[in-house]
Amino acid sequence: MKRLPSHIAVIMDGNGRWAKQQGQPRVYGHRHGVESVRQVTEACAELGVPWLTLYAFSTENWARPRTEVDALMSLLVETIKQEIDTLNKNNIRLQAIGDLAQLPSSTLEALQFAIDNTAANDRMTLVLALNYSARWEMVRAARLLAQRCVDGQLTPDAIDEQSFAAALTTAQMPDPELLIRTSGELRISNFLLWQLAYTELYFTQVFWPEFRKTHLYRAILDFQGRERRFGKISEQISG
Ligand code: IPE
Ligand code: IPE
Ligand code: MG
Repeated sequence: MKRLPSHIAVIMDGNGRWAKQQGQPRVYGHRHGVESVRQVTEACAELGVPWLTLYAFSTENWARPRTEVDALMSLLVETIKQEIDTLNKNNIRLQAIGDLAQLPSSTLEALQFAIDNTAANDRMTLVLALNYSARWEMVRAARLLAQRCVDGQLTPDAIDEQSFAAALTTAQMPDPELLIRTSGELRISNFLLWQLAYTELYFTQVFWPEFRKTHLYRAILDFQGRERRFGKISEQISG
């Protein structure tokens, strides 16, 4: 409990393959993934992990078959509405990152309502990455900074890592200390490219719909066994 990550980010992957394994349509996997979201959120709150970010829909996911995209969007609305009471009961604040303006209006409205309704909660923040893409986010940050230069509020040489980070959608959050990706895929898939610079990466074969609290504990224990050197040498860290 002494070395808990302050921010865990999760690439929730493998819903479709899990469903296929059960002889079910892909959407069946997405539906079952909701219980994993509940478990991981609850476990982080119980442990005292203050930030949890879940990659729920990437900008690239629009390219999936229309029926799957529609099903994912309705599932999102349904789940968000359904979970507001539990979030409030557990004192969890909901936030979202991504190109939210491009979401269907019903999804955006449900999301905004839940964000506003949980804004005062302070035990933990659950961040949903929705219509998120790290390259989109970084280009957007570059554009914001460029505009501030044009407006005379900033000079190019004043742009540093701090001001760049402050122009990202994650400005108010600490960088993730632990990234978990389920389903055995070993890639980042356009998630938090800037913020993951020094994050510990953890990959598991478990498909997202079967991910439970014990799987999370295992990932945290693995994280706790690692030496984070940040460019230094081991003796400098332990000494
Ligand atoms: C993750 O599971 C959920 C989303 C990307 C929305 P997938 O739907 O990617 O499932 P697989 O990777 O095809 O098994
Ligand atoms: C990443 O999963 C996006 C989410 C988990 C929301 P994908 O299943 O879309 O990633 P790729 O396409 O296999 O890299
Ligand atoms: Mg996938």
